[in-house]
Amino acid sequence: MNCYEEFALYYDELMDDVDYEGWFLYIKDIFTRSDIEPKEVLEMACGTGNLTYYLCKEGYNVTGFDMSEEMLSIAYNKLLHFKNLKLLKQNMNDFKMSKRFDSIVSICDSINYILNKDELLKIFKNVYEHLKEDGLFIFDINSYHKLSEIIGDNTFVEDRDDIYYVWQNYFDKASSLAQFNLDFFIKDEDGSYMRFDEEHIERAYQIEEIESILKEAGFKGIKKYEAFTFNTPKNNSERINFVAKK
Ligand SMILES: C[S@@+](CC[C@H](N)C(=O)[O-])C[C@H]1O[C@@H](n2cnc3c(N)ncnc32)[C@H](O)[C@@H]1O
Repeated sequence: MNCYEEFALYYDELMDDVDYEGWFLYIKDIFTRSDIEPKEVLEMACGTGNLTYYLCKEGYNVTGFDMSEEMLSIAYNKLLHFKNLKLLKQNMNDFKMSKRFDSIVSICDSINYILNKDELLKIFKNVYEHLKEDGLFIFDINSYHKLSEIIGDNTFVEDRDDIYYVWQNYFDKASSLAQFNLDFFIKDEDGSYMRFDEEHIERAYQIEEIESILKEAGFKGIKKYEAFTFNTPKNNSERINFVAKK
């Protein structure tokens, strides 16, 4: 599976409809409501550093990691002026840090890239170990409804001035895996197109599955919201945000 390699170069352009500042403010609101004022924050699967930017700007000491060198390289160029940031290439499956954090965050369905429950449990236990006492774990997932009904088994086409891409998806109910075949056509200066493709796989988790794995990892006070709100998720919510306390 080639994933977040060449795509990294076009990621920010294709995500230009995502309000990362708003996402940061939502996370900050969660900190306030949870009565914590974090100093040390770890961002897992930070990608090209769009949330990382706001975390650094706020003044937290931020560590960000991702397993894609290509995504990290974009993040590095974007964020190198921040002195309160450390960027690392690590994998969620076995990351290891020399310090503990007040909060660990991961956004934009990065957790859906963990394809089986045993792996997810191992990661949640490791997150738990890396949190200080009363530390907060905040992350979101693409909902089961979104992956199975909205994205799964559908094809999307986006036609922009310089990028044309086709996104063909398949959802396998037996394994709960959603496979995305992404085909990119990038317009060159001479009008010709360069083509590349990537294959991404996300696992659809039910809210109850995530909650039970969080509990097994030792977390308490687990809250789940329809993302960007503090409302209980509905059957047709597309993104679910979890907050769990050590
Ligand atoms: C949808 S992108 C989100 C990136 C970033 N969080 C954002 O909000 O733009 C998913 C990210 O997860 C990363 N990722 C997927 N599996 C990972 C793993 N096992 N360990 C570390 N990073 C991973 C990918 O490289 C990619 O950067």
